[in-house]
Amino acid sequence: PNSQQQQLRQLYADAAALFQHILLNTKLGETALAYTQQRQLSPDLLETFNIGYAPDENNLLTRFFAEKKLDFNLLRHSGLFTENSDGTLRDRFVDRVMFPIKDGQGNVIAFSGRALTKRENQPKYLNSPETDLFNKRDVLFNFDLAKAEIRKAKQVVLFEGFMDVIAAYRAGIKYGVASMGTSLTNEQLYLLQRATEHLIVCYDGDQPGMKATNRVITLLHNDPRFQLSIVTLPEQLDPDEYVKKYGAERFRDVLTGGMETAVGFRLRYLKQDRNLDNEQDKLTYIDAALHELVNVSSAVERDIYLNRLSDSLQVTYEALVTQLQDYLVDAT
Ligand code: CTP
Ligand code: MN
Ligand code: MN
Ligand code: MN
Ligand code: MN
Repeated sequence: PNSQQQQLRQLYADAAALFQHILLNTKLGETALAYTQQRQLSPDLLETFNIGYAPDENNLLTRFFAEKKLDFNLLRHSGLFTENSDGTLRDRFVDRVMFPIKDGQGNVIAFSGRALTKRENQPKYLNSPETDLFNKRDVLFNFDLAKAEIRKAKQVVLFEGFMDVIAAYRAGIKYGVASMGTSLTNEQLYLLQRATEHLIVCYDGDQPGMKATNRVITLLHNDPRFQLSIVTLPEQLDPDEYVKKYGAERFRDVLTGGMETAVGFRLRYLKQDRNLDNEQDKLTYIDAALHELVNVSSAVERDIYLNRLSDSLQVTYEALVTQLQDYLVDAT
C-alpha cells in the first residue's frame, strides 16, 4: 500500500475511534446511545462492531482533523467530508449512528451512517463515497469477523443489512455477512467462494427482500461454486425484527432447519400474485413451474416437487410428468 492509502486508513481508524468515544462517553452521544440500546445493541456489540456516533454538531470531524494539520488533499479525497462552494470542507455525516465498514483484515475503509429519526429527503443510511480504499462492489459487511466462522460452520448466511448481521451475531450466528442493500456482485461472490460453497440467503421477508432473493437465485443458477439455501422470514419481518420479536433460539432454529431449496422458493415465488382459481392463471403458473423443474437434475428432487404441485393444484401427477417430459426434450 502506498503512503496515501496508509494515511487514509489512519484517518478512518481515527474517525471511527472518535465516533465511538462520542457515542459511549459524551453528553453529545446520549440520545444516540439510547437509540442503540433500544435497538438492542449492547455495549459489547457496540465494541465488537466499532459502532459510533457522528453528532449533530457543526463540523466536529473537520475541526478534529484541522488540529492535526493533515494534508488538505488527503482530507478532501477521504470521503468523510463534503466541499463547500468556497472550497472549504464540512462533515458529511451529521447526527447519525456510524457503522464502520471494514476490509477483510478489519481495517475501517468506509462508514454507513444511520439517521436516528426519519427525515424528509434524507436517506435512512448514508454511505461513504467510493475512495482509494473503498470499492463498494468488493466489500461484504462483517466479512473480516465472519470468515473464520464461515470456514468452521462450512456455510455463510447472506443478509441485507447491518442490523441483520448484528442481530444474528447476537443470536449466536456469527457466520453472517451483508451485501448492504446492493445487489450481490461477482467480487463479493468471489470472497465467499473461497470460504465456503454453502450459501444461505436470508433477506428481508418483505416484497423487496423476496424479489432480491429471486434475483440471487437467477444469478447463481447453474453456478457450480455454490449450493444455495433460502430462508424466508414470516410476516414481512427482517432478521433483526425477527430476533427482537421471537428471540434468538427461534431464529437459530429457522436458520438451521427452516431453509428451502432455490427451486422450492421459486415455485412459491412464482405463485404469488396469481389467482389459481382462475384457469388461465393456473395454466400459466403450471407452465412456469414445470420450466423450473427442467433444471432440476435429481429425479428424486423433481419427484418431490411434482407431487407438491399435483397436490396443491389438483392436477394429476401423470399429466405433469408428461408435460415435463416435453420440456425436457425441448431443453436437450
Ligand atoms: N441501505 C443503504 N441505503 C439506504 C437504505 C438501505 O445503503 N438508504 C442498505 C443498508 O446496508 C441497509 C440495507 O440496505 O442495512 C437494507 O435496507 P433496509 O432493509 O431498508 O434497512 P435495515 O437494514 O432493515 O435498516 P434498519 O433496521 O436500521 O431500519
Ligand atoms: Mn451443505
Ligand atoms: Mn430491506
Ligand atoms: Mn431490513
Ligand atoms: Mn431492519
